[in-house]
Amino acid sequence: MQQFQWYPGHMTKARRAMQEDIKLVDMVIELVDARVPQASRNPDINTLSQGKSRVIVLNKADLADDRQNKAWAAYYQNQGYHVVMLDARMRSSVKKVQEIIAQAGKAKMERDRRRGILNRPVRAMVAGIPNVGKSTFINTIAGKAAAKTGNKPGVTRGNQWIKLNKSVELLDTPGILWPKFEDQTVGLRLALIGSIRDDIMNITELACQLILFMQEAYPGVLEARYELESAACSNLGEAACILEKIAEFRHCLAKGGAFDMDKAAALLMDDFRSGRLGKITLEIPESEQA
Ligand code: G4P
Repeated sequence: MQQFQWYPGHMTKARRAMQEDIKLVDMVIELVDARVPQASRNPDINTLSQGKSRVIVLNKADLADDRQNKAWAAYYQNQGYHVVMLDARMRSSVKKVQEIIAQAGKAKMERDRRRGILNRPVRAMVAGIPNVGKSTFINTIAGKAAAKTGNKPGVTRGNQWIKLNKSVELLDTPGILWPKFEDQTVGLRLALIGSIRDDIMNITELACQLILFMQEAYPGVLEARYELESAACSNLGEAACILEKIAEFRHCLAKGGAFDMDKAAALLMDDFRSGRLGKITLEIPESEQA
């Protein structure tokens, strides 16, 4: 996972760089993490992209709840975005991306044609917060073309155009902005998916927060995986008791025979992040909330 240390100066610089890059393109392809499609967006990307064709990629859709993927796709489509659900690691994503870009670029192509401009490619850039899968996406979509650009001696990376087909060119470097932590739940959700380093979050508390969430949104899952009679809990204290039961079931013992809660927490978080607890979405769109 890429790690960034961001200071206000970096943020201003990154924002300015993106502002410059956006001037060069017709289309912004914004990647979000399908498990947290709201918390993994930086609202500045939205502001900077006004007036461009807009694509939202619900990436890591393989780890998120299918029903919620559909709900989020509808939510963003209603706001005028072109949306695609993706596992950016898969070759089969290439076709889906080509299709959505064609769809999103149609209006621009038609505008060009009316003005008598023919064969001018649609130019696009990828943007998103760290760890949503931007590099993976570019590698899968552009493949060898991207690697070639970077490997040519004397060619500095940055502002190189990768030709995806005869009508689309992609900027080789993505726009990266750090998420905004205006709301505490944003930080918590990003920590849960592993986008914030575990050593700056308390892993045991994080695991307890996950247990609380799972009980409410996906009851029965923890019981089945860790053979628990019940994982019912309504506060962090009770969630810690469930974590202790998980420690017992998975034989997480510290020296002296006490339960190793940190180990159990790390194990639970790993099960969740790698999809072993199933496809789970941590946020639901407003339209779905009761
Ligand atoms: P970034 O450029 O936006 O920072 O993200 P990057 O492509 O580096 O991807 C971050 C991690 O997410 C990588 O895991 C990558 O394999 C994984 N990833 C990207 N797209 C998908 C997807 O659609 N589905 C799934 N399941 N995983 C995806 P990694 O290299 O193993 O890093 P990490 O696990 O150490 O974070």
